[in-house]
Amino acid sequence: MAGTNLQTPILQVDHLSMKFGGLVAIGDLSFTAPRGEITALIGPNGAGKTTVFNCITGFYKPTEGMITMTRASGEKFLLERMPDFQITAKAKVARTFQNIRLFSGMTVLENLLVAQHNALMRASGFTVLGLLGLGGYKDASRASIEKAVYWLEKADLMDRADDPAGDLSYGAQRRLEIARAMCTGPELLCLDEPAAGLNPKESLALNELLLGIRRDSGTSILLIEHDMAVVMEISDHVVVLEYGRKISDGSPASVRSDPKVIAAYLGVDDEEVGDVLVEVGDTSVIEELDGVAPVAQGPAETSSMFEGPIADTVEEAGGETIVPASPAASKAAQVEAETAAKSPVEPKGPAQ
Ligand SMILES: Nc1ncnc2c1ncn2[C@@H]1O[C@H](COP(=O)(O)OP(=O)(O)O)[C@@H](O)[C@H]1O
Ligand SMILES: [Mg+2]
Repeated sequence: MAGTNLQTPILQVDHLSMKFGGLVAIGDLSFTAPRGEITALIGPNGAGKTTVFNCITGFYKPTEGMITMTRASGEKFLLERMPDFQITAKAKVARTFQNIRLFSGMTVLENLLVAQHNALMRASGFTVLGLLGLGGYKDASRASIEKAVYWLEKADLMDRADDPAGDLSYGAQRRLEIARAMCTGPELLCLDEPAAGLNPKESLALNELLLGIRRDSGTSILLIEHDMAVVMEISDHVVVLEYGRKISDGSPASVRSDPKVIAAYLGVDDEEVGDVLVEVGDTSVIEELDGVAPVAQGPAETSSMFEGPIADTVEEAGGETIVPASPAASKAAQVEAETAAKSPVEPKGPAQ
């Protein structure tokens, strides 16, 4: 039975949909996260990645669909039916947020101890006598300090243990957030853009931490990431979203050469994929495409197809506005138009 379980994906998402009023943020999305692997969820801004995390971790109740978490023990949890605190405590799913959320006035060590508060309170039997040292509280307390120290070392934060978390560099705060999530003993760790805003050295330290987690703790990782260098380097499996739908799913290498993915990232229409491929110099993919005439000249030389800013969902191309494929995109366009209209740079009325 144990062998069977190893092959069962740790997370299975089936026909997941999430609507906000008329806006379809996720539409009929299915994918799996294999056990013990790092799965990357990628896609342009507004594609629905954070919304998927919010459904997995119980922040949102999905409009439709099923999210099944299978623990190493074989126990199954239907996450869409559980409140968020049970998803952490029982299903053993932990997450970090796109914007860092730490107790910035507490020390680094305190942040790691607070994460284990629930387990400690359980050990105390929720009684004063329990807290005063009878029963298992003392042992649990020692264990939680040991766990905190273990993750301080893994996250390379030992020498900052007594500093306020708010004093750490951005990269160190990111590692602390991950260490804190690991202190809850998750079987699945969900990270929302952990590499965003990191310098190359910090990004390297993050990669090492994540690869160490996969290697040493056996925790499976679901990672939302914009930095393609990180995705290509550390993920085993990549799922690509655009407008809340899956457009590609597979190994990093197969996803990277998928014309749909390239087009989504560069924000162009399907018919223009050929041009894009010429720009990125991917001749092998160009040859596979029938009837697409290569264009010799592109607006900019790009060494990597994923380099540069992520394109927005609505683009002007060849004088033609591409009609967004979903209400999600229309919303993005609408917000953009509203922002532009409100911009103080644009004088609105006649000069005084
Ligand atoms: N609570 C919400 N209410 C309304 N719209 C939302 C909410 N959360 C997300 N959205 C919309 O869902 C779409 C996907 O957002 P998000 O999941 O944050 O994208 P990503 O993380 O891929 O950038 C966007 O159009 C966003 O505006
Ligand atoms: Mg997001």
